[in-house]
Amino acid sequence: MLQGQCVILGVTGGIAAYKAAELLRLLIKAGAEVHVVMTRSAQEFIAPLTFQTLSGNPVHTELFSLIQEQEIGHISLADRADLVLIAPATANLIGKVANGIADDLLTTTIMATRAKVLFAPAMNSNMWENPVYQENQAKLEDLGYHFIEPVYGELACGWQGQGKLPDPQEVFNSAQSLLGSNDLAGKTVLVTAGPTREEIDPVRFLSNYSSGKMGYAIACAARNRGARVILISGPVNLCEPKGVETIQVISAREMYEAVMGVAEQADLIIKAAAVADFRPVVRGDQKLKKASAVTMTVDLQRNPDILAELGQKKGSRILVGFAAETEELLKHAREKLANKNLDMIVANDVTQEGAGFDGDTNIVRFLTADGNVEELPQMTKEEVAEILLDRATALLPEG
Ligand code: CTP
Repeated sequence: MLQGQCVILGVTGGIAAYKAAELLRLLIKAGAEVHVVMTRSAQEFIAPLTFQTLSGNPVHTELFSLIQEQEIGHISLADRADLVLIAPATANLIGKVANGIADDLLTTTIMATRAKVLFAPAMNSNMWENPVYQENQAKLEDLGYHFIEPVYGELACGWQGQGKLPDPQEVFNSAQSLLGSNDLAGKTVLVTAGPTREEIDPVRFLSNYSSGKMGYAIACAARNRGARVILISGPVNLCEPKGVETIQVISAREMYEAVMGVAEQADLIIKAAAVADFRPVVRGDQKLKKASAVTMTVDLQRNPDILAELGQKKGSRILVGFAAETEELLKHAREKLANKNLDMIVANDVTQEGAGFDGDTNIVRFLTADGNVEELPQMTKEEVAEILLDRATALLPEG
């Protein structure tokens, strides 16, 4: 996948800079053309000559170097790139890019490129957890920049925590999957996400704990793989992903209308939303008063089952549902797979630690219509999204 691809490897000043040499070796071995750009502080940790020797190309360090500019200016470097990979990426570098500061060759290259940009942050765990840093990363992720999470371990500063650069092989794998994945180009993917709200009166509603994180991760992953993505989202606290056509809805009936309005256009439909099955029969026009009541009954009526209806008229579309269960996971998931005429269902036991609605990780099983069950370990919702798309893409009809 990396054969002949142009990778800019940005190295910033952290103790993990030495690992970038091994990463470079892996990139070269895979056939990539690599140009290394180092910040000034990176050169305190490792000499440019190491990267020059391994890459076979001059190492770029200066924004306004006459010689380097003549050979390959910073803008042409940014233009040529298929991928800009920054490993390790310091909090400082990420903070600069998130705030539009381009004051050296690396930050300028990152801001001038239209290629995919992948940051592999490495830093002290307190810095990693600092909300200022987290906000910068979240901002860049919303804008379509990619990140590899640092791993837990003993840090150079003596702390134990999250902040270590993953093994070069893992960084390499992420770079490879980012570059190699254009497998959804020309396809339209419809994703639903989040909960729905069913109003009782102007100030109260019935809903569930869905955060929308799983559906948003799928939408972003599909976008990164070249798909046109339509995301129909219930009310969540997440930013609308860039490059995704997002339709905001509140209730199950609104979600139903929105989905049915665009479903025809989709090649692949992934229904990650936790749709409320029932809504109050009557929605009070005014705030309901408790008066002297000690108990209260709210009569509910069924909402349309969007997924089941899609299943009735899916044609050649691939339909993926979710089953959030608290007991008899496989049994219930199998029933939903069959009853709703799905190609695949993603089953998760929401009572399991590390799985379910609100967290950043999930533990899922994929059940397909041919009876196959694939069990995945706990992983981030972004990782689940990638594997889900691998499996769903394999089900798409050829051509
Ligand atoms: N779903 C839907 N419309 C509904 C309810 C659910 O499209 N009114 C979809 C969800 O988006 C999900 C799948 O159906 O992909 C499973 O939802 P879930 O609530 O777990 O299953 P239900 O079929 O509603 O069954 P139950 O509530 O009895 O578990």
